[in-house]
Amino acid sequence: MNPQLAEVVEAAPGKLAAVQSLEELDRVEAELLGRRSVLAQLQKAIGSLPPEERPALGRDLQQARATLVELVETRRRALEREIADRVATADRVDVTLDAFRLPLGSRHLIYQTIEEVCEIFVSLGYVVAEGPEAEIAWYNFDALNTPPTHPARAETDTLYIDFGDPATEPLLRTHTSPMQIRWMEAHRPPVAVVVPGKVYRADTIDASHLPVFHQVEGLMVGEDVRFSDLKGTLAHFARSFFGPQTQVRFRPSFFPFTEPSAELDVSCFACRGGEPGCRVCGGEGWLELLGCGMVDPNVFDAVGYDPKSVTGFAFGMGVERLAMVRHSIDDIRLFVDNDLRFLRQFP
Ligand code: PHE
Repeated sequence: MNPQLAEVVEAAPGKLAAVQSLEELDRVEAELLGRRSVLAQLQKAIGSLPPEERPALGRDLQQARATLVELVETRRRALEREIADRVATADRVDVTLDAFRLPLGSRHLIYQTIEEVCEIFVSLGYVVAEGPEAEIAWYNFDALNTPPTHPARAETDTLYIDFGDPATEPLLRTHTSPMQIRWMEAHRPPVAVVVPGKVYRADTIDASHLPVFHQVEGLMVGEDVRFSDLKGTLAHFARSFFGPQTQVRFRPSFFPFTEPSAELDVSCFACRGGEPGCRVCGGEGWLELLGCGMVDPNVFDAVGYDPKSVTGFAFGMGVERLAMVRHSIDDIRLFVDNDLRFLRQFP
């Protein structure tokens, strides 16, 4: 082989081995095979050689080029692997490390209860709606057949937002019943709606009272809706919520916006009826659950429904009460104390 070429080919492996980056490799490749390389110069000189010497040099050049190209490409593949390994090592993730856990909270028992109650009624075809917590007296009282002389409207009994004229002044709703009126104003019968939400009363806080608590209202209106429909619906609700063995009883009661009115009691699920000194029912055997009744014709008049062609029933239940009865919680203040030892029992 041409001695100049032999020298280049012999030195190439050492040069390539020293290369540490792809840029460096490009430079060395240009030096070995590029325009200014020994190879290129000899290639150019070939024309000035005597014709008989040309083939030999041509062969040497071809062989040297093939060898050098092979050396460069081998080094390139090795270098690429080295670089990939280096990156992989630097970026290595230790999959054995414990995950960083966010302390996620859970839905408050009151909201879990609201959801469960609504689901039972949704399965019966009711829709769920919400209404304003700041109401006007018309919706909270007048349209619900509760005249200005009713004791519930005394300033000491209701939270008026500004103590002005109680007839027009906004107040914090004392029950979810005003949504009966709003819903009927906006929809033609038949209607079937449940309304969960916060209500406000001028009550002093104790083990069974909070000035802010939750209710779920229910309203069903249509042709020929009867008290037996009310009983069947609420009995189904009680059994879905407290268990299939639950007994229900209706006691006569009074609400201005229903006639007749009733309170619904459920049999004590702890003692199943009259165990003296039962922790849950106190030996009564029954637990008071909610107020209900047939919609008073005056309420239909207030919303423009014809009391001669439609009838309906309504009910309103306290959510805290439902949760307390079901889970034997003896102090309503636990719901708002934000004590994690309490909240964590209802994940
Ligand atoms: N609004 C009543 C209350 O808060 C409950 C109720 C609702 C009663 C619907 C009858 C019908 O006590």
